Amino acid sequence: MSMAQSVGASAPRPAASGFRLGEPNEAMLLSLRGVSKHFGAVQALYDVDLDLPAGQVTGLCGDNGAGKSVLTKTIAGILAPDGGQIYWNGKPVHVRSPRDAAGLGIETVYQDLALADNLDIVQNMFLGRERRNGLFLNEDSMERAAAETLASLRVTTVRSIRQPVATLSGGQRQAVAVAKAVMWNSKLVMLDEPTAALGVAQTQMVLDLIKRLKDHGLAVMVVSHNLNDVFEVADRIAILHLGRMVAQDAASAFDRQSVVDFMTTGGSTREVAASTQGRN
Ligand SMILES: Nc1ncnc2c1ncn2[C@@H]1O[C@H](COP(=O)(O)OP(=O)(O)O)[C@@H](O)[C@H]1O
Ligand SMILES: [Mg+2]
Repeated sequence: MSMAQSVGASAPRPAASGFRLGEPNEAMLLSLRGVSKHFGAVQALYDVDLDLPAGQVTGLCGDNGAGKSVLTKTIAGILAPDGGQIYWNGKPVHVRSPRDAAGLGIETVYQDLALADNLDIVQNMFLGRERRNGLFLNEDSMERAAAETLASLRVTTVRSIRQPVATLSGGQRQAVAVAKAVMWNSKLVMLDEPTAALGVAQTQMVLDLIKRLKDHGLAVMVVSHNLNDVFEVADRIAILHLGRMVAQDAASAFDRQSVVDFMTTGGSTREVAASTQGRN
């Protein structure tokens, strides 16, 4: 937590110290500083700093077990951190529940949990927030809003918005979950391994969607260990290694090898990654 841990620009940063960012500020949509989380003897997150700027895609990388999902769930209000602070536009906030997260404008798209299978697309997009005319649901208005949102994201492969979600492909499910986030004016959308179960064409559709979210001005965090996906969509890359944030910078400061180095060893000696060292 202390600034004494940060290393000067000239010194190589030992992996164990982790990567530290400066003071959170109001220009940054979401910042984490010093966030820790353990489960019994397992320390899942050590003193993690993360910035998620609006209008940019941040790729969160790390090997299996690095802590990516724990970090995502901490921001989503599903897990309570043991220590550290979350800032929203530079102001300290508490995100104690998914409801708190939704109140700030944080939506999370999980691989499987995102949607209710037995409901159709419109019902899913309005679940818990249905529009009513007195006692009656305003189906026309909900259908129109759902269709407009899907069209604005150029989701064109869905045949009917009255189709049960169970009948959709994995990529279409992801698209509906993302569209829901957009329709509710979310400011930050986090996607945990959104393409892990998808084929090539579906993956491309989800990656295109992610770029459109960014064009809508949202902050996007994409959790992935697929470097093709990360380099295609990410403006920034943050890398966790065994629960520590070991690098975080513009995607252009990395190449594939340096990301692999950071993911597997927590450090990299490659020139291209030099600007990730010692930025405070
Ligand atoms: N609910 C939990 N109870 C105990 N340990 C957990 C729990 N969730 C995650 N962990 C542990 O925390 C570490 C990070 O997990 P996770 O964030 O899921 O990794 P990944 O980067 O693959 O998403 C792992 O060692 C995992 O076993
Ligand atoms: Mg995970």
